Amino acid sequence: MSLSHIHFHVDDDGIALLTINRPEKLNALNHAVIEDLRQCFGRVQGETLIRAVILTGAGERAFVAGADISELADATAIQAEVLSARGQSVFRMLETMRKPSVAAINGYAMGGGLELAMCCTVRIAVPEARLGQPEVKLGIVPGYGGTQRLPRLIGKGRALDMLLTGDPIDAAEAQRIGLVSYLKPRAELLSFSRSWLDKVLANGPLAIGLVMQAVESGLDGGIAAGLQFEAAGFGLTAASDDCREGTRAFLEKRKPVFAGR
Ligand code: COA
Repeated sequence: MSLSHIHFHVDDDGIALLTINRPEKLNALNHAVIEDLRQCFGRVQGETLIRAVILTGAGERAFVAGADISELADATAIQAEVLSARGQSVFRMLETMRKPSVAAINGYAMGGGLELAMCCTVRIAVPEARLGQPEVKLGIVPGYGGTQRLPRLIGKGRALDMLLTGDPIDAAEAQRIGLVSYLKPRAELLSFSRSWLDKVLANGPLAIGLVMQAVESGLDGGIAAGLQFEAAGFGLTAASDDCREGTRAFLEKRKPVFAGR
């Protein structure tokens, strides 16, 4: 991989840490960062040894302050539509990769930054973080999924409040409305993100991937499709070695050792 603005590091346990690194521009997502993200997500998707992802921003001020406004200023309608569709497809890779991911929100998560964080499995933030979709203040519509994922996460009324005023909310409010799952001091942000993933990854690997897929399937296709997927996933996992091991370990009062099959 040749990355210009992302530090990519995979630890011995297969957890990939992606640090978006343009702190002087509050880690704004320009074309190069989006292409870096595409490469990183492709690698995470393709490598079985990589089991999970933590996404964060370099520096102490921002996770990501949005799409790079300098690239929007003179764009034509077609160029802007292409930019939006390209970003959406890259973000979708993260959302659908069936590997748990954490947005470790170390500061501003604005516009495309919040949209990126919403594609992660959970969001964990420092108390100083601020989150918002300020696009309407620039006279544009969010372009990386904000109009779709925000209402799914926090409900239509609250989402429209944020989307139409463009006003950011603080981390405590984000946690109160369920946009952020945990608040942690800066010094503990990455270690807590890591321990959340450790807890998830100790569970049955087949079940983890299928739970994520079932949730997506229902949110995308409605409850009937989601329930059908859930029943199929239940059947598949109930007949798996992981299920034998998990149930045996429970009865033998020991920790399970899952093989992922
Ligand atoms: N795109 C491009 N550059 C950005 C940016 C963005 N989304 N967000 C911040 N920057 C740049 C600023 O232009 C500035 O660069 P400069 O030092 O070369 O002038 C630098 O990052 C620091 O930002 P600054 O605005 O000076 O910091 P601040 O603390 O005063 O304000 C924010 C922080 C996040 C409130 C403010 O930067 C902001 O509103 N950013 C835009 C958010 C947005 O609208 N995102 C959606 C874009 S579609």
